[in-house]
Amino acid sequence: MTQAPMLDSEFLAQLLPFNPFDPAFIVSPYPAYRRVREQGRLVRTPAGLWVVSGYELCAAVLRDSRFGWGDGAAVADHFSTAPDGSLVRPFIFSDPPEHTAIRRLVSKAFAARRIDQLRPTAQRLAAGLIAAAREQADDAPVDLMSAVAHPLPGQLLRELLGVPDEHEARFRVLTADIARGLDPSLFLTPDEIAKRDSARAELGEVFTALAERRRSDPGDDLISQLLAVEDEGHRLTMHELQVTCTLLLAAGYATTHGLIANGMLALLQRPAQRDWLRANPDRVEDAVEEMLRFDAPVQMIARMALTEVTLDDHVIQPGEQVMLLIGAANRDPAVFEDPDELLLSRENPRNLGFGLGIHFCLGAPLARLTAQAAVAELAALDIELATGTPPRVPNIIMRSLAELPVRIAGR
Ligand code: HEM
Repeated sequence: MTQAPMLDSEFLAQLLPFNPFDPAFIVSPYPAYRRVREQGRLVRTPAGLWVVSGYELCAAVLRDSRFGWGDGAAVADHFSTAPDGSLVRPFIFSDPPEHTAIRRLVSKAFAARRIDQLRPTAQRLAAGLIAAAREQADDAPVDLMSAVAHPLPGQLLRELLGVPDEHEARFRVLTADIARGLDPSLFLTPDEIAKRDSARAELGEVFTALAERRRSDPGDDLISQLLAVEDEGHRLTMHELQVTCTLLLAAGYATTHGLIANGMLALLQRPAQRDWLRANPDRVEDAVEEMLRFDAPVQMIARMALTEVTLDDHVIQPGEQVMLLIGAANRDPAVFEDPDELLLSRENPRNLGFGLGIHFCLGAPLARLTAQAAVAELAALDIELATGTPPRVPNIIMRSLAELPVRIAGR
């Protein structure tokens, strides 16, 4: 893994209550989260970052309008400049009223009906990808990341957005560069920062070109709908549209492959759970929610106090940063029985994997149906891990695997 040069462990300890570069943390951050939780559900690092590890407190902050992005200093690296010189913030990083206006427009185009129509496509694609991988692999291990976890969300997102297949390979690289670049720039190498910024610019150009085409020749895709939607006289500018499409692709791709990766790894490491799912295929929806709780692809959400807030007798000053440890909250023993166990039979397992409040994941229905299609197909196979500990991507915020080699019997 590459590490930004000046970050020695003493400096890191000032910033964070765990060392995100520790190889053991990358494999499993949960023991470190447990140690943080033992210090209290709200702690402050020497550098002044507030860290929340309790479920109820994370949920309370996510629902509290006194927390937001403020001037966006912590995420300004993800803003872009429109041709008229104005700054455009992806709506995931903006506060009301800007956030409300854009989210409402995008939600109109992203209608639930349209997403649910993708379910049969997801199931057909998942079955086809797995069949092709089995055929090609012969007796060798199959990498589930390349075979299913990457192409399935990629194809569905391209289908939704109306992006031609020729962009498949490039989009995979660009979205990975953006996902890596979501970690604070302080933790990235100059090369990773440059790749993130050029990936965003390249995607922006692709979406601008596609939008220009759709403007004169509209189709049944999300870009055409985003061009057409209007809410109380508000329409997306061309630059907002480009930034929004880049956000949808980046927010949707790395997260969904992370859910398939983390969920399938957990399942393959627990044959009894796999057997349970095989015996109860109608419970795949709850099973995927439990996978999301158990090892969430988005491990942390940041917020800033917009005004003075008292939490658990601590006074948080305006402008101070708060980090919500979603991965820790989802394993809070105050809320979950046996939190460190993957128990697919949990009824309606709630969790914070898609966030909560005004920024609750807009793509959750799509992510769920994508992961359900993959998990249902894969769990039905006679399949086992081909390696002890599959390599992870080194990201801190976005948790996924670099590879997931498996053996599939009965070819
Ligand atoms: C398993 C897959 C996914 C996970 C775990 C996930 C997780 C999240 C989380 C935790 C947030 C809240 C961020 C915050 O509060 O700051 C979020 C927001 C968002 N997600 Fe997802 N996401 C997934 C898939 C998707 C997909 C497929 C799309 C789109 C196609 C998408 C689009 C968005 C957008 C646009 C937001 C911002 C919403 C807002 O700010 O109002 N996500 N997601």
